[in-house]
Amino acid sequence: MEFFIDTAEITQIRKYWNMGIIDGVTTNPTLIARSGRDFKQVVAEIAEVVKGPISVEAVSSEASELISEAKEIVKFSEHIVVKIPMTAEGLKAVKELSKIGIKTNVTLVFSSSQALLAAKAGATYVSIFVGRLDDRGHEGMETVYEIKQIYENYDFPSKLIVASIRHPRHVIEAAVAGADVATIPPDTLEKMLSHPLTDDGLRLFANDWEKVKKR
Ligand code: E4P
Repeated sequence: MEFFIDTAEITQIRKYWNMGIIDGVTTNPTLIARSGRDFKQVVAEIAEVVKGPISVEAVSSEASELISEAKEIVKFSEHIVVKIPMTAEGLKAVKELSKIGIKTNVTLVFSSSQALLAAKAGATYVSIFVGRLDDRGHEGMETVYEIKQIYENYDFPSKLIVASIRHPRHVIEAAVAGADVATIPPDTLEKMLSHPLTDDGLRLFANDWEKVKKR
């Protein structure tokens, strides 16, 4: 299973990349805006650190514009994956981009039927937003199981990303469901790392070690 970090904060990206636990990055317009920095500068900095898939979103509505935008975005690095919205025009763009070897991540996917269409169009990655589904009272993870099954039935090469993760349990459930990727916000990564019993255990061992006779 691959882990991407879902942020545009370079300090967090560097921290977890250097820890060796992330394989790539996903960003979106909200995350870029939250960084408070210039778009090009942020992407260039991420590309300097991360040598794995970096998803950057195209924001046009027409297929032809999405394609031109994608061609510009990929100039940042060989690792760029262009996020394309799950719309009719978006799928048209995905089809064309896949023909010319530009990797895509179809974003804002909320149903198995959308995921099926994205795979048919030739998406490299498909991002299902489980947290936003849960927020609305749905069981987001059920869709993950369904999509996984559909992709397996027909050997679709598209990789399924579980996105909009809200807590560590989402990551565990994504792993159990066999999702290819979980894109995880830094605060959830932090929660996955630590446990109060680990801290207690460390304190206890350190205290007891003091009592051990050492020559
Ligand atoms: C995925 O690529 C998106 O950036 C992200 O997971 C959206 O999550 P949110 O629902 O927390 O905004």
